[in-house]
Amino acid sequence: MLFKKWLLVLLALLLTQTNFAQNKTIVNSPNKKISLGFWLGDKGQPMYEVNFQSKPVMLASSLGLDLKQTLNLIVYPTLSNNLSILSIDETSSNTTWKPVWGDVNEIRDNYNKLTVKLTQKNANPIVYNIVFKVFDDGVGFRYEFPEQSTIQHFIVSDESTQFHLTGNHKAFWIPGDYDSNEFSPVVSNLNEVDAEDPKYGANIYGHQFIDKNAVQTPLMLKTAEGLYINIHEAALVNYPAMNLMIDKSNYTLTSTLVPDALGNKAYLQTPAKTPWRTIIVSDKATDILASHTILNLNDPSVIKDPSWIKPTKYVGIWWEMHVGKSTWDYAGSQNATNFDANNLKPTGKHGATTANVKRYIDFASKNGFDGVLVEGWNVGWEDWFGQFKENVFDFVTPYPDFDVKGLQKYAASKKVKLIMHHETSGSVTNYERQMDTAFRFMKKFGYDAVKTGYVGHIIPRGEHHDGQWMVNHYVRVAQKTASYKIMLDAHEPVRPTGLSRTYPNWLASEAARGMEFNAWSDGNKPRHETIFPFTRFMGGPMDYTPGIFQLELNYWNKDKKETIHTTLAKQLALYVTICSPLQMAADMPEIYEKKMDAFQFIKDVAVDWDDSKYLEAEPGEYITEARKAKGTNNWFVGAITNENSRTAIVNLNFLDAGKKYNATIYADAADAHYEKNPAAYKITKQVVDSKMILSLALAPGGGCAISITPIK
Ligand code: NOJ
Ligand code: CA
Repeated sequence: MLFKKWLLVLLALLLTQTNFAQNKTIVNSPNKKISLGFWLGDKGQPMYEVNFQSKPVMLASSLGLDLKQTLNLIVYPTLSNNLSILSIDETSSNTTWKPVWGDVNEIRDNYNKLTVKLTQKNANPIVYNIVFKVFDDGVGFRYEFPEQSTIQHFIVSDESTQFHLTGNHKAFWIPGDYDSNEFSPVVSNLNEVDAEDPKYGANIYGHQFIDKNAVQTPLMLKTAEGLYINIHEAALVNYPAMNLMIDKSNYTLTSTLVPDALGNKAYLQTPAKTPWRTIIVSDKATDILASHTILNLNDPSVIKDPSWIKPTKYVGIWWEMHVGKSTWDYAGSQNATNFDANNLKPTGKHGATTANVKRYIDFASKNGFDGVLVEGWNVGWEDWFGQFKENVFDFVTPYPDFDVKGLQKYAASKKVKLIMHHETSGSVTNYERQMDTAFRFMKKFGYDAVKTGYVGHIIPRGEHHDGQWMVNHYVRVAQKTASYKIMLDAHEPVRPTGLSRTYPNWLASEAARGMEFNAWSDGNKPRHETIFPFTRFMGGPMDYTPGIFQLELNYWNKDKKETIHTTLAKQLALYVTICSPLQMAADMPEIYEKKMDAFQFIKDVAVDWDDSKYLEAEPGEYITEARKAKGTNNWFVGAITNENSRTAIVNLNFLDAGKKYNATIYADAADAHYEKNPAAYKITKQVVDSKMILSLALAPGGGCAISITPIK
């Protein structure tokens, strides 16, 4: 009797297990640390979960989209439930590739892939795939629409991708927004998120926040158990950006796409693919920084011969306008209406004069910089800001005191490249019309890099900066600049998603709250730069513009009490902790000339690397990294902290064993402090080798930079 009962229990157990195994397909990462489960729920809804070392990262989370027809707006049955599986396919791939530039010179792309083909149980079924790639440090997944008999083009009215978290994690977030990411990151638990609270960043463009529970990606999370989770997207092309709506009752985040002017999300033509949704996870914060999963999910470079793409260190006529020393405009804003470009009266404060540009060219040339950015060189600045005028800039008409031809000659004679500036002031149709003319003008006058800008509302269409129409615009600019062999730096675009792999001429974007905010707002908190590598930089490099040496703002404006919120040594360390092939030395020649001993680090530091070591990190607290300059045996170390002083530990075991090196250490002085004494630094030299461990004292808001060169 007892035996029979046992047999029944065993049978029941076997049956449920077989049932379970049939329903849930499990794919492990190559190193088996991460596992992904996929199944259809009881209502036929696609579901997934993610575990890290057998512990849940994402609990059962649902997937799906809603579509409607483009022309007569027939609404299709949701693709979020009532589905059946047509096929399940598993493959693996393990390759390496070489980025044109970056933090390392070779990247491994190793994953197991699951493709689930789904269809609806209705009369005119749509067929679509959900594709998962499981890497050693995370998971990417996307929706794919193959060509099909029922519809060729449609509107995505919503995407309901969920990320069901295990609890009330600590979050590093900025408010959800359709147009801007220029906010100070907030650190709070998920249940405390209030994206409409003005203390988390007044919206400088005057538009509405999406919802008090909406945040942007990359979203960095830390669980109470010490797991680090990053949620973002990869390969954002022909689709709007994703914000995340937090359901605080169960800690589920749901995708919310940026709409167009009519409220539609995306217009797609089959075959079509959405961007990848990415989850990067580890029990070590440094693994998040070292991840290449987002790049791996992007397509390989379309530029066959990238020899013209040069990682660039530059100076420029820029900070002097932000601190109010000079102006972009030539004639002052009183001439704003009906101004006659041939009859402007100079105010005497114009920054982009031929003489001033020559001064920057001389400084760049003398100190080995590649480029000089010049803003405010073209007519229109009298009338550009918040005017909602479409044809303010034409990108080919210089102010009368800016000698295009003469400066081309002068820059060439000094072996320095001028960097073009195109502020569109949000008038993107105007820019699209003028792009070819503008790029031909650049090539004619020797410019091979452009900084674009999208300040203000997107007029006249009323599109959003992060919607599909603008996402396509940014990619079109990357493609078009590539066709002219022009390198690109986009300010105020959508935040990056690894597209610099596909378009390596797209050196950097701003797409976050850069250094400029320290000049004219309440500034960036000392913890700012310890968060960015875990958030904004996950998608790609930033033109953050470090290197401010005049740290007290009352030097420029006696009414200002603020500092730049870092010490000088931290400004140096940022050249290492911010990984970007485009780095500015943002302060002015006359400021650097007073501190050439510290400036030496900016002269020496590389912008492209063979290798990077992520030594220690905690988001919002500290980061210590070492990078090996491309094609050399020189190493650069950067350590930064938030408002707290601390000791950074640098184990030099990455150096070649048995070799001796000269190290120059640019450290905070003992009394340095980001508010009270920001400029206090000390420079020491010592011989080091791979057996040594350095302890670096960082002041509150401070940092430390080291250059290490082998002794011949
Ligand atoms: C905002 C950009 O981020 C900044 O770098 C630029 O100087 C101004 N717009 C003017 O174009
Ligand atoms: Ca900006």
